Amino acid sequence: MAKYIVEQSGPLVGEVEISGAKNAALPILAATVLTEGICEINDVPRLRDIDVMCRILRSLGAKVDEDWETHTIKVDGSGISVSEVPYDLVKLMRASIFVMGPLLARLGKASIAQPGGCSIGDRPIDLHAKGLRNLGAKILMSDDLVNASVDTLKGALVYLDFPSVGATENIMMAATLAEGSTTIENAAEEPEIVDLASFLNKMGARIKGAGTDTIRIEGVKALHGTRHAVIPDRIETGTFMVAAAITRGNVLIKNSVPDHVRPVIAKLIECGAVVNDELEGLRVRGDVNRLVATDIKTLPYPGFPTDMQAPFMALLTTVSGTSTVIETVFENRFMHAGELSRLGANIRVNGRTAMVPGDKRPLVGAPVMSTDLRGGAALVLAGLVAKGKTEVSEIYHIERGYEHFVEKLSGLGAKITRVED
Ligand code: UD1
Repeated sequence: MAKYIVEQSGPLVGEVEISGAKNAALPILAATVLTEGICEINDVPRLRDIDVMCRILRSLGAKVDEDWETHTIKVDGSGISVSEVPYDLVKLMRASIFVMGPLLARLGKASIAQPGGCSIGDRPIDLHAKGLRNLGAKILMSDDLVNASVDTLKGALVYLDFPSVGATENIMMAATLAEGSTTIENAAEEPEIVDLASFLNKMGARIKGAGTDTIRIEGVKALHGTRHAVIPDRIETGTFMVAAAITRGNVLIKNSVPDHVRPVIAKLIECGAVVNDELEGLRVRGDVNRLVATDIKTLPYPGFPTDMQAPFMALLTTVSGTSTVIETVFENRFMHAGELSRLGANIRVNGRTAMVPGDKRPLVGAPVMSTDLRGGAALVLAGLVAKGKTEVSEIYHIERGYEHFVEKLSGLGAKITRVED
């Protein structure tokens, strides 16, 4: 099993280029199932999760060409005829469930292994099912399988009890080919939803309101192939912003969309970091002021992203004063707190609240384990400032979501190497 060896590195300085967003590319690739035409997706990050989605598309009968020189994936879905996604693939990635809506719309049936829980929470799919049922689908859920079928999807009103990102995407995709109009209320507003809607509209869908809490979809008879470039990854952007701040460095983050990372910018400024929106990208400086504590509460977009909670917590272990971190989106997303405490952070967790005591006890390197994707990134960031050497294991979590993480950090002066055990 591979691991990262991270050494105390000093301030990170230089420029880094952000990749395309994994969480936008995944539903967009799933949406190619909706057409018999050819879709070309640009700026796709080369990541394990993307590879799994390509394998799923191939298993359904699509022809998928990956060109990693240009980060382009071409999908020819004319041969799609299989409606099952086996557990072998689903167990590798929960986002496999994204093909449920498109398969229902294209083939009238979908049979997908239950994704099950994961380390950050139970992560049920009841809202996906509720929405698709509203569109007329029959959905049978057993412990290990979700079976969905429909003669004709019919537009309907769908109210989401929570603005789930995945449920909004699944329902929006299915509704593009439904008869009549669909309204999703209390929809998720994340930039990835807007990117998916813009891809679907380029395919001929009629979607309005993506990016607000009410999305209206007028069903059309068929969608056609198109070409689309994925938005930059806002969580990778945020992670490098925190990397600049935690090391008290000065980093220019290129290919970033400032509007997508407003809450991260606001919280970094509250801590005393300096963030400038420059012509070429976002410049983050942690070397100007003494950094101080701030409180964080995760919320659906445009609130502070749950995916940035762990990386930001790493930063808060190094500032002056105690910070409170409240996680409201996932019920069990503090696994990294225990690992950060192995480096000396002394974080106290009580239910959905964590108290982070700050820099009274400087971090000291130790062996730690990634518990999930963003928690793993947090450990790497902490390792950059911990005295001595930090060994981060179970890094396959991190490599699911950060393209060329080691190379990009090294390019800024970080002392990090990937070693095979
Ligand atoms: C997506 C992102 C993930 C991010 C999350 C929240 C992708 C591939 N992943 O995950 O990185 O952390 O949004 O921003 O885009 N829920 C239900 N029932 C459902 C669906 C969700 O109760 O049917 C709950 C979940 O358990 C969780 C909350 O809603 O507590 C948010 O989940 P959701 O927004 O659906 O996240 P994902 O789409 O899985």
